[in-house]
Amino acid sequence: MQHGIVRKFIGAISLLTLLSVLILNFFVGIKLKDYFEQQTSERLRSNARLVSSLLEQPLIEKDFEGIREKIPAIASTLSERITIIDSGGTVVAESERNTGQLDNHFMRLEVTRARESGIGESNRMSDTLGKSMKYVAVAVMSDGTPQGYVRLALPIEDIEDQVQVIYRTVLTGGLVAVVLVLIIGAFITRSIITPITEMTEVAEAISKGDFSKRLKVKSSDELGVLARSLNLMADELRQTISNLKSMDKTRTDFVANVSHELKTPLTSIRGFIETLEDGALEDKANARRFLSIIKKHTNALTNITNDLLKLTELESAETRLEMNPFDMKDLVGEVVSGFSYAAKQKGQTIRVEFRGGDEEGFLLYADRPRIEQVLVNLIDNAIKYSPEGSRIKIISERLKYNVKVSVEDNGTGIPDEHTHRVFERFYRVDKARSRAVGGTGLGLAIVKHTVLLHRGEVYITSNLGMGTTVTFTLPIN
Ligand SMILES: Nc1ncnc2c1ncn2[C@@H]1O[C@H](COP(=O)(O)OP(=O)(O)OP(=O)(O)O)[C@@H](O)[C@H]1O
Ligand SMILES: [Mg+2]
Repeated sequence: MQHGIVRKFIGAISLLTLLSVLILNFFVGIKLKDYFEQQTSERLRSNARLVSSLLEQPLIEKDFEGIREKIPAIASTLSERITIIDSGGTVVAESERNTGQLDNHFMRLEVTRARESGIGESNRMSDTLGKSMKYVAVAVMSDGTPQGYVRLALPIEDIEDQVQVIYRTVLTGGLVAVVLVLIIGAFITRSIITPITEMTEVAEAISKGDFSKRLKVKSSDELGVLARSLNLMADELRQTISNLKSMDKTRTDFVANVSHELKTPLTSIRGFIETLEDGALEDKANARRFLSIIKKHTNALTNITNDLLKLTELESAETRLEMNPFDMKDLVGEVVSGFSYAAKQKGQTIRVEFRGGDEEGFLLYADRPRIEQVLVNLIDNAIKYSPEGSRIKIISERLKYNVKVSVEDNGTGIPDEHTHRVFERFYRVDKARSRAVGGTGLGLAIVKHTVLLHRGEVYITSNLGMGTTVTFTLPIN
């Protein structure tokens, strides 16, 4: 591609230069030829007048011998051919030939013109010298009749030679210009083409999925701007592709996790149903036990499905929160009493504490059922992941613009390397243990999404073996 453009560009400007030189030469040539001819004509005319005034007297007196003596000196001084013709057309003196060799000049064009108007000019082949000449003849008059003619001549070739010299000089100059144009043109095109070639390479690399190549931005002109845009585009594409890849990974992981979570209880349920079909149905006591296991797994399936539905709903863009005013104090109280049975089972105590809000209370605008779910998930975790007899504390604090709630337990805690991941879907620190207590790893994901949808914040702090605190804030309005 590079050479294609360079060749076309340089070819075009060279051709243009050459063409301009030729056109220039053509017109200059015409003009110069005119000019030189006119110069020559004027020179011949004034010299012819000069010579005719010098020889007027001897011509009238027909002192041809005297004239012949003077002619060579005058001709060499003027560097022009001189011919003296008598009134009858006979050549009486001539600077370049013997007069005897010459025929009658009475009808020569310049002579007939001089006879008519005193001075005559013509361009024609010289019979005598065999080359193109410019002639000027002046009639020497006496008593109104021509007494003879003084004729001066110069070869036209001389004019043409002069024009040719200039013509050649201009042409040489033109060719030098073309060579210069070639060199400078090659340099300029290369400086334009090289960045374009580099850009093409980067663009091609991008089209093949390689986003690593970048251009050096060397100038601030259009090419520099283009290079910068190309670099920016590569950056953005790389970012977008990597986002898409991670989104895709999240999606596949999610599908794999869901399938796995569903498969475990389903396999178990099918196993017990088959056992029942194979005769266990007759054994009333065992049959009842199997059915209760089936029921437990079915409940687990229902829970997973419900949690997934909640998550999907929270994530879908259309989710509108049903914002209503309610008192956080009431809500915490309700949820805690809902857990009193479960806590009692494990010999745990739940303590509820409210700080601040003496005047304003804990009134806030939020989606009550969804915040209830948040509290349920957090208290459920605190109970599940704490040993028997432990204590759970729920502290609600009224701040200037927020209500802050933390659920604190002194249970198993979470190893540091896991704390930042527990909000991910299906993420469980100890899969087997969580599953044993009925956990699928969706609870905290729902908490996070709900709080973020409310423009609040959520964070977790935990010490292994000491306990865990999950805190969330909600804006009051
Ligand atoms: N209070 C806590 N103490 C110790 N570990 C916790 C606590 N809360 C959460 N975890 C850890 O974080 C993981 C994720 O919690 P999350 O509530 O999202 O899921 P889950 O409780 O396993 O299942 P689900 O809540 O969906 O029934 C848990 O499996 C557990 O390992
Ligand atoms: Mg949970």
